[in-house]
Amino acid sequence: MTLTRVFPDPAPGDDLVRTVDGLDPVSRDWLLRRYARETDAYLRVNMIGSLNGSVTGSDGTSDSLSSRLDRRILGVIRELSDVVLVGAGSVRAEGYVVPARAALAVVTSSGNLAAGQRLSAASSDRPVYILCPHSAVGRVEATEGISRACIVPVDDVDGLLSPAAILASLHERGLTRIVCEGGPVLAGRLFAADLVDELCLSVSPQIVLGSRALLESEQAASSRFSLFQLLLDDQGATYARWERARPASS
Ligand SMILES: NC(=O)c1ccc[n+]([C@@H]2O[C@H](COP(=O)([O-])OP(=O)(O)OC[C@H]3O[C@@H](n4cnc5c(N)ncnc54)[C@H](OP(=O)(O)O)[C@@H]3O)[C@@H](O)[C@H]2O)c1
Repeated sequence: MTLTRVFPDPAPGDDLVRTVDGLDPVSRDWLLRRYARETDAYLRVNMIGSLNGSVTGSDGTSDSLSSRLDRRILGVIRELSDVVLVGAGSVRAEGYVVPARAALAVVTSSGNLAAGQRLSAASSDRPVYILCPHSAVGRVEATEGISRACIVPVDDVDGLLSPAAILASLHERGLTRIVCEGGPVLAGRLFAADLVDELCLSVSPQIVLGSRALLESEQAASSRFSLFQLLLDDQGATYARWERARPASS
């Protein structure tokens, strides 16, 4: 598969078009450079949508929106992160394998992790954190299914953890390069709290009707992002990096 760098123009000596097939180290390094960030503390959201902004494809999960190349980019973004943050709804809907190169943090209000059927450690030895209200600790213990998961009780308001408290809990553990992989409720709350530094958005060239939107929020909010990078593959999918536009400090 080929990736074309549409924006910005490549630096002198850098490729405009790169063939990314298999796991060859040269493509991996090229992608690592494309997705590196300069700071050591940030929150990225990495998600995929359809052309009309649906969060799932025809199979009812993000699998049918994704592709080998999208998963490759996801792996590179994970490699550049200390922790993958995900809502419990995504774990229940899609299942989750603990990443090979980053810790996993799951946020839940109910404490229901589907009796561990959806959370798999596979061969990863990376830590798994379950962030939940104090009142949900017992339910998490009964349902997490991964014996080495570390349960992190966080102060809540009516069962909800504030986005700032979620990030603070991760920072306290030295996990400062954070990528949230959704789903729409958790990611929507992070955007509503204006805590997201970057959106990595893959767009699959399909229209999917009757599904949910990429982001959901109980509260109205808007914020501006500017395009930092745009890659295009030979199937017509795009991979964008959008940076939070912060007002210039005076
Ligand atoms: N396209 C993509 O990139 C992508 C990525 C991920 C998921 N998805 C899709 O998204 C759908 C799942 O959506 P979803 O909204 O259920 O996913 P979600 O945002 O992953 O999960 C929502 C759940 O996370 C927990 N949660 C979120 N914010 C919280 C907070 N502030 N405090 C405490 N708990 C909090 C709650 O768990 P409890 O219910 O346990 O209390 C809440 O019900 C699935 O169809 C999946 O396929 C798509």
